[in-house]
Amino acid sequence: MIIAVDGPTASGKGTIAKALAAHYRLPHLDTGLLYRAVGRQVFLDGGDPDDAGHALAATTFPEGLLLDPELRSEASGGLASRVSIHHSVREALYERQRTFATQPGGAVLDGRDIGTVIAPDAEVKLFVTASLEARARRRWKEMRDRGDPRTLEDITEDLRRRDDRDSTRAEAPLRAAEDAVVIDTSAMGIEEAIAAAIAAVDAKHPAE
Ligand code: DC
Repeated sequence: MIIAVDGPTASGKGTIAKALAAHYRLPHLDTGLLYRAVGRQVFLDGGDPDDAGHALAATTFPEGLLLDPELRSEASGGLASRVSIHHSVREALYERQRTFATQPGGAVLDGRDIGTVIAPDAEVKLFVTASLEARARRRWKEMRDRGDPRTLEDITEDLRRRDDRDSTRAEAPLRAAEDAVVIDTSAMGIEEAIAAAIAAVDAKHPAE
């Protein structure tokens, strides 16, 4: 069974995808991490993330980079969003994601275009979303706990910019697949969101 989990930043999709993978004993790929690695590699190369050539060259990043904690930063998220608009970058990362999705036994992948481009054949597609306010507040609390002084207003503005770039780009824009189950986590705690996701998968695929 392939489970595709798409949605905007800080919607809870990553946590939900991880929990689904554990629940159904499936391997999990956080595809955002690949784009983050490309963005980080461009930065390390001293290149320009908005330049398609520079971004494409960075898709051959070393595997070890995927373990770099810096990939989780807001700066890497912003770079990832910028390199992800280039067709050549998306094409270069396609095969790796498709191979992961179609491995025997199935997989859980989370990202922006899993249900629409990488695995349109997924048995279950979830679109996890939440209001901008709810997502900004979550991100702000996480950052505050890590000692990051950024304000809620700054973070809201950042998310708004990222949402806008991810959903208006020409290729594989962020959107729910027509056959996706939408889960709005704005008013849910994490346990409730995971339970809703498991219920949605079981409803779509009762045999597993
Ligand atoms: O999910 P994330 O915040 O780690 O993703 C970072 C950026 O990578 C996101 O702003 C857009 C891009 N991305 C993408 O274009 N397609 C994906 N499948 C996953 C991420």
